[in-house]
Parts: sequence; C-alpha cells; structure tokens
Amino acid sequence: MKALVLAGGAGTRLRPLSYSLPKQLIPVANKPVLQHIVESIRDLGVTEIGIVVGARDTALADAMGDGSRYGVAFTWIPQDRPLGLAHAVRIARPYLGDSDFLMYLGDNMLPDGVAGPAAEFRARRPAAQLVVSRVADPREFGVAELDGEGRVVRLAEKPRQPRSDLALTGVYFFTPAIHRAVENVTPSARGELEITDAIQLLIEEGLTVRAGHYRGYWKDTGRAEDVLDCNRHLLRSLRPRLAGHIGEECEISGAVVIEEGARVLRSRITGPVVIGAGTVVEDSHIGPDTCVASHCTLRDVQLSDSIVLDGATLSGVRGLYGSVIGRHALVTSGEGTERHRLLVGDHTRIEVAA
Ligand code: DAU
Repeated sequence: MKALVLAGGAGTRLRPLSYSLPKQLIPVANKPVLQHIVESIRDLGVTEIGIVVGARDTALADAMGDGSRYGVAFTWIPQDRPLGLAHAVRIARPYLGDSDFLMYLGDNMLPDGVAGPAAEFRARRPAAQLVVSRVADPREFGVAELDGEGRVVRLAEKPRQPRSDLALTGVYFFTPAIHRAVENVTPSARGELEITDAIQLLIEEGLTVRAGHYRGYWKDTGRAEDVLDCNRHLLRSLRPRLAGHIGEECEISGAVVIEEGARVLRSRITGPVVIGAGTVVEDSHIGPDTCVASHCTLRDVQLSDSIVLDGATLSGVRGLYGSVIGRHALVTSGEGTERHRLLVGDHTRIEVAA
C-alpha cells in the first residue's frame, strides 16, 4: 500500500499565518501537523508517501526533506491550482499506479492513529474504506449515510440539510477503482472536483464502500481555534524533559519540556508546556497548554493556552491566552498604558483588553 497526503490548497481560514507558512507546517505540540501525519502513516507500515503540494510551494519540501529522517520516502506531486481533492488524486495517478492507497488530508489530525480502519480495509478490501466521526454540525463536512452493517449508502459534501451526523474525517483507503471515478466527476457548487462525489460514483456502480466510526480524537486544523484545541489534546500526553538551563528562582510544575539550549530564569512554568531550543524566558509565567518554539525571547510575559512560533519576541505583556503568534513576530508593551500601536498584516486578528 502507498499513501497520498494532500497538502496543497489555500488555507484561507488560517490567515495571516498561512500567507507565509503552509498550514500543514503549523506546529502542534511543537511538531508540524504534516510530521504528525507522516509518522502516523509510517506507524501503519506504509513507507512510500506521495505529497500533493501547490506548484509554487517549496516550503514543505524544504522543511520535510526527502522523508529519510522519518524512515519513509517522499514523492512531491505539484498541483497547479487547488481544483479539489479528486483532482489531486487524478494528478497523482502516475505515482500511485495500480496500488491500493491511503489518502490523508494534510490538515487532519487523528493522533490516536488509524490502525483499526487500516486493518479493516486490508481484511475486507472494499473499493473504499472511510473513517467517520459524529459531529455537532455536519454541514461543514462530507456526510455519510450508513446501513446497519457499516456499508455506505449515500454521501454528500457539505450538505445544507445533512441526512446524518456522521462526518468524513480526512482519512480514506482506496483500491485502484477510485481512478475511474475521479475521471468522471464534474465540478461541485464550490467549483471543486470533490472526492466525496467520486466515492458516491463507486456506490452507484454497485461497488462496496464501507465506513467505521472513529472513537479517537479527530480535528481538522483549518482554524486557529482548532489548532489550539489539538495542541491542548496532544499536550495531555506530554512526557516531561528538562534539558535546558533552569535558574534558581524558577517554579516548574506539571509536564514540562525545556529543550536544549533554552534558558528559563525567575519564571513560573505551569505544565503542560514546551519551551523550544534556544528560547529565553525571563520573569514570566508560562502555561498551562502552551508551546513556545525555538529561539524566542519572552520577558515579563504571562501566557497560557497558546502557540508561539520560531523567533518571536514577547515582552511586558500580561494576560495573553488563546493566541497563535507567528514567526519572528514582536509583541511588546508600549510607553503609555492607555495607548496601543499596531503594525498589522492582512487578515490579522487582534483582541485587546477593553
Ligand atoms: O476535514 C475533513 C473534510 O475535508 C471532509 O469532511 C470533506 O468531505 C472533505 O472534502 C474535506 O473538506 P475541506 O473543505 O476541509 O477540505 P480542504 O479544502 O480544507 O482540503 C483538505 C486538504 O487537502 C488540505 O490539506 C488542502 C488539501 N488540498 C485541497 C484542495 C482543494 C489539496 O491538496 N488540493 C486541493 O485541490
């Protein structure tokens, strides 16, 4: 079996971060989403991974390399425009050949793994094996209707009036039967070639499409709130490791990782927290549920439930929570207490205390 990871697309709901960083590289528990996915695929024993990326996007390949550091082999598959998930499968055909494959959407996190669905696919080998999960608002997802035996009878992509509350997660297992179906779909109302429509064609052809209820944690990390939720979830199983320098007047509690070369002085760290390599924290209270990446500087800061990306500087700012701070961003307190000064990029979101 091969794997196909879809990491093209625009990531508009994660602007402004996605302007400069593909959303699949946003770190969750200090590791890019795409790395979590690759490791999860490798854990299934699948080592040939094709990754669909925007044609001009070199950042993913620059960050992830050829796969050897994860014990797998990547093939990068450029997609000129994000014309839909079925379009991505079309252009991956030369890579996939006639192999069965696992398709994983590059912004989906299922940290408990997909060994169960993979075993079911291998045992029964239906034309498609889907992974579905109950959601409160199915209108945001592909929606599946099942019979009593785990067979899918109908699918719809983001229906206005969903006929079930079972959403398609971003993990699919296919036999080569999907290739004929993706050739036959036409653009949907949102102008994309939908994989959901291609799978519906398999059902209409009389082929078996199965789905299993996923009971583990699942998140589409499309929005900042989802990224933070996922970060909180992963940090629950953080294993503490104190490799950096911790000064005498520090109070460390809960699961805390202080990476090599980090320096923490006169600060309170309330886990779960990760402080990345080379980061300096002084006179601050960090945590819980917070990840600070590498080479950041935090001085006189109170920060919880947040993600700070590489090289950011925060100083003299209290009460920061629920925040995602981009690479090399600067967040400081100004001269006066009443006034604010902002140099803000497009589609940035800022909430100041009233
Ligand atoms: O998250 C689960 C949902 O993912 C499913 O319930 C839906 O049925 C499925 O269509 C998909 O919906 P989204 O609207 O969330 O898909 P999105 O446009 O975010 O794309 C998912 C991933 O695929 C993302 O990492 C970007 C990548 N992609 C997307 C398109 C449209 C590509 O690589 N190429 C593309 O052309």
